[in-house]
Amino acid sequence: MILIDGKATSSVIKNEIADRVAGMIDKTGKHPHLAAVLVGDDPASQTYVSHKEKACKQVGIVSSVYRYPETIAEKELMEVIDFLNKDDQIDGYIVQLPLPDHISDDKVISAIDPTKDVDGFHPQNFGRMALNQPAYLSATPSGILKLLERYDIQTEGKHCVVLGRSHIVGLPVSILLQRKAYPGNCTVTICHSRTQNIKEITASADILIAAIGQQEFVTGDMVKDDAVVIDVGIHRIKSDKTKSGYKLIGDVKFDEVSKKAGYITPVPGGVGPMTIVALLENTVKAAYQEVYQ
Ligand code: GUN
Repeated sequence: MILIDGKATSSVIKNEIADRVAGMIDKTGKHPHLAAVLVGDDPASQTYVSHKEKACKQVGIVSSVYRYPETIAEKELMEVIDFLNKDDQIDGYIVQLPLPDHISDDKVISAIDPTKDVDGFHPQNFGRMALNQPAYLSATPSGILKLLERYDIQTEGKHCVVLGRSHIVGLPVSILLQRKAYPGNCTVTICHSRTQNIKEITASADILIAAIGQQEFVTGDMVKDDAVVIDVGIHRIKSDKTKSGYKLIGDVKFDEVSKKAGYITPVPGGVGPMTIVALLENTVKAAYQEVYQ
């Protein structure tokens, strides 16, 4: 079994990005700038945004965070979006999800200028991605592809089973992996809450991507020998074995599945750090107009 080390891989890529950013600043004088909009005080969202800020600093990207209370009106948030769209200092920005229930994610995402949508969530970027046209790819799917690539994992003709059909992971990663490209050329099956005989399907996967949002859903008996297992889940649970009293676990029962898998990502230190790297890359592309000329 080979442990796919997302933390180490992300460090290598961050160094590459830092070199590139330094070169571009020398050449153009322009420093890339990423903004994040954070609504409410969800602890997971706060952690993600602070990780993104730290990573920006490491590679020479300027970052700023726009924080608003949970009670912000949708109309007011739409004004923030309008301001960010117009601000020439900001190359790209993200609106951290989830948003409070009284605000429509779809409405907010559709209002983002697609040329600044470094999360790749806007329908225009999603559509372009699906059609293999230049687009910002959403960060988690893109991070997964980078891991497959950096570990030289063969994907052509393989059966890839994706657990979950979310708009930010399951659906886009399944589209990307069926494309005529590397990584890609997979035969993809998407499983979701209404899928029957899920175990039979996962047991035939050469590549299994778990993005179902249920802790330790994937057990050893669901996985074929030597499969590649990518765990997108992240759940904070109580633990009496850590100083903080908490630990992170994924959608995969690691102890069981790691005994069968050929490759597996850990949680933490697998997909998570790669998601951030993919966002940094999109920001650099936005700053130097590499997707939308
Ligand atoms: N919430 C969970 N994942 C993401 C992400 O990749 N981007 C944003 N904006 N919110 C998220």
